[in-house]
Amino acid sequence: MIGKIIGLGSYLPSKVLSNKDLEEMVETSDEWIVERTGIRERHISDPYTESVSQMAVNAAKSAIEDAGIDPEEIDIIILASTTSNMIVPSSSCVVQKEVGAKNACCFDLNSACTGFLTAYNTAQSFIESGHYKTALVIGSECTSNYVDWTDRGTCILFGDAAGAAVLRADESDKKNMFVLHADGKKGDCLYAENMKQRKDAEELLPKTFFLMDGKEVFKFAVTAVPAIINELCEKYSINKDDVDLFVLHQANSRIIEAVSKRLSVPLEKFPMNIASMGNTSSASIPSLLTELKKAGKLKPGTKIIASGFGAGLTWGASYIEF
Ligand code: ACO
Repeated sequence: MIGKIIGLGSYLPSKVLSNKDLEEMVETSDEWIVERTGIRERHISDPYTESVSQMAVNAAKSAIEDAGIDPEEIDIIILASTTSNMIVPSSSCVVQKEVGAKNACCFDLNSACTGFLTAYNTAQSFIESGHYKTALVIGSECTSNYVDWTDRGTCILFGDAAGAAVLRADESDKKNMFVLHADGKKGDCLYAENMKQRKDAEELLPKTFFLMDGKEVFKFAVTAVPAIINELCEKYSINKDDVDLFVLHQANSRIIEAVSKRLSVPLEKFPMNIASMGNTSSASIPSLLTELKKAGKLKPGTKIIASGFGAGLTWGASYIEF
């Protein structure tokens, strides 16, 4: 038994920050950003109306509507976020209240940009074990709260968004196919401390922004992602040629191009929305899946490999059949 994705939804803040806008803020250019990252604009949340939990509620409502289910049928809500506004209660409990999923158990998890896939596979394990039938899995991020808007090496990359999926147990004897990895020794490649930690220690304030060794993260991504996709294919005897789409975490178009090359899979099989979204961390994969569904590209039987990677370091890959 596996959980089939029966509903998808996403939410994007209305405020758009273009590369031209960034040219006014730091020493950079539209040309540099597009050439090095593929990003043209990103969405920035309103601090009062578009928190991680509020955006998650909006994405969840769309996914529930798309699935056509009663929210009371949801058994479990797992929300992935690295930038949540809520410490207690968890953002997943906020979602539960707002969507009326009164029978669900709820928790949040943080696995950076691998967050959605980690939450998705956790939900699949509850479904495979027979404990739950219907799961709501969400990735929601206000990365803009953790960006140092004077650091041109990071502020050009990130954006805010939320994406959600509803999973429903099918009656097949299929198994969930996934691989997840982490390497905590490389944690200092990309980190941020909690904004409220040790608040009297002024010198620690700069550490509350994303601090990133961009070159190291880039090297890691272009090596680890093809390797984990190959590992997934070998582990479950998946023929890469039979896969319709490779839905990767949207961090940088050059990373996706390099992965396509290393796997010898045509770039047309790697859909991208990074140009208009930037890197939205755990929200990127469910947001892109939602776009693909709306564009009619996810039909029954469509075969996907999704792969996420990010801080931790963490990385993962999942085989998903629609
Ligand atoms: N505009 C103009 N120039 C810039 C900018 C900018 N925004 N940023 C850096 N530069 C300059 C640098 O100062 C450097 O100048 P120098 O040669 O005079 O020293 C030059 O451009 C080259 O800088 P690099 O850092 O070497 O540029 P690179 O080609 O590596 O691109 C980038 C930088 C885009 C950050 C790239 O390394 C990257 O995308 N890395 C992956 C980052 C990533 O995906 N992070 C998220 C991971 S997922 C998660 O968990 C959130």
